[in-house]
Amino acid sequence: MKIIITGGCGFIGSNFIFYMRKLHPNYELLCVDKLTYAGNLETLAPVIDDPKLKFIHADIADRRTMYDLFKNEKPDIVVNFAAESHVDRSIESPAVFLETNVIGTQVLLDACRTYGIERFHQVSTDEVYGDLPLDRPDLFFTEQTPLHTSSPYSASKASADLLCMAYHRTYGLPVTISRCSNNYGPYQFPEKLIPLMIINALEDKPLPVYGDGLNVRDWLYVDDHCSAIDMILEKGKIGQVYNIGGHNEMRNIDIVRKIITILGKTEDLIVYVTDRKGHDRRYAIDPTFIKNELGWLPTTKFEEGIQKTVEWYLANRHWWQNIVNGEYRHYYERMYGNR
Ligand code: NAD
Ligand code: DAU
Repeated sequence: MKIIITGGCGFIGSNFIFYMRKLHPNYELLCVDKLTYAGNLETLAPVIDDPKLKFIHADIADRRTMYDLFKNEKPDIVVNFAAESHVDRSIESPAVFLETNVIGTQVLLDACRTYGIERFHQVSTDEVYGDLPLDRPDLFFTEQTPLHTSSPYSASKASADLLCMAYHRTYGLPVTISRCSNNYGPYQFPEKLIPLMIINALEDKPLPVYGDGLNVRDWLYVDDHCSAIDMILEKGKIGQVYNIGGHNEMRNIDIVRKIITILGKTEDLIVYVTDRKGHDRRYAIDPTFIKNELGWLPTTKFEEGIQKTVEWYLANRHWWQNIVNGEYRHYYERMYGNR
């Protein structure tokens, strides 16, 4: 089995490579990554010498390179993680989100159509469903919830999902899609809520909470996302969307307080800052379908996962210090300087 994993030098893609190496040591894995600001080849250091893993430095939107790759390698499966993934950056500069998330996906779909594939799996997000009100805790996103996007990021991911379904229906391409809730765990880029709060708290810097801090996200440990994708690849139905989540809704302010407690810091580090434009209020996945159809269940409870995550950032300072001392400093200044 030969699998192309795009975006394998990012947060979830790299965790997926580690996961697949352990579970399916005979699979050949081809990691295709453009190494944008969010991609870090150093992340793959523990597995990079494995003869069953190949790294290809390439842009998924580069049609010629992708076609050559598919022609030469003849992959059986493609799992598309590659994306611009940060909502705040999509509000600042939307164009690259369309380039990678929409055109890049379309190039991969065309390559699959031209050279043949057993499965194209699109890694999507619960953000394609828009948001839910805080005063209706009875509402959840199901696979039937209409797409209703808020940010340029979520609009680009929804567009990619629609293209995947169109290629399935029109050309019979064997596509599956998963829409997961917020992930956390090792190797997440420091721009995202959990690593940002861990790193800032460790350095006694302000913890910038957007708006009133009451927005709700549904958190899933990254390995549980990886196991769900692996299961969809093995047993998923072609043309099907699968929602992935573990019923772990939490308010942002409670996440920040939890990190403060684990690190033994105090709440005076918290600073309420100007809200994100168009900020989605609540995400909440109903995972009934994937549980009933495939038997998937998450295994890491939040208490355990957040503890492991904080410990990972404590033990791997070199990984994030390289990032926060580089270009990220300018991003941080732009994003938080006058907030
Ligand atoms: P990330 O930003 O950490 O990593 C993205 C990776 O894609 C990086 O390695 C980057 O270099 C690479 N990349 C970007 N543009 C590329 C291009 N044009 N060609 C090739 N490689 C390119 O993202 P992540 O958080 O790991 O998310 C991975 C996928 O999962 C994304 O598709 C995202 O939409 C989806 N997702 C993320 C979450 C989450 O909570 N992080 C939840 C649900 C779904
Ligand atoms: O739901 C899945 C999505 O989760 C993925 O599709 C995205 O790729 C991923 O980035 C994530 O999107 P969010 O916007 O939910 O994640 P983020 O970590 O950026 O923010 C989580 C919440 O925390 C959100 O309500 C905004 C808030 N926040 C974020 C940052 C970075 C703050 O209050 N302060 C901050 O500094």
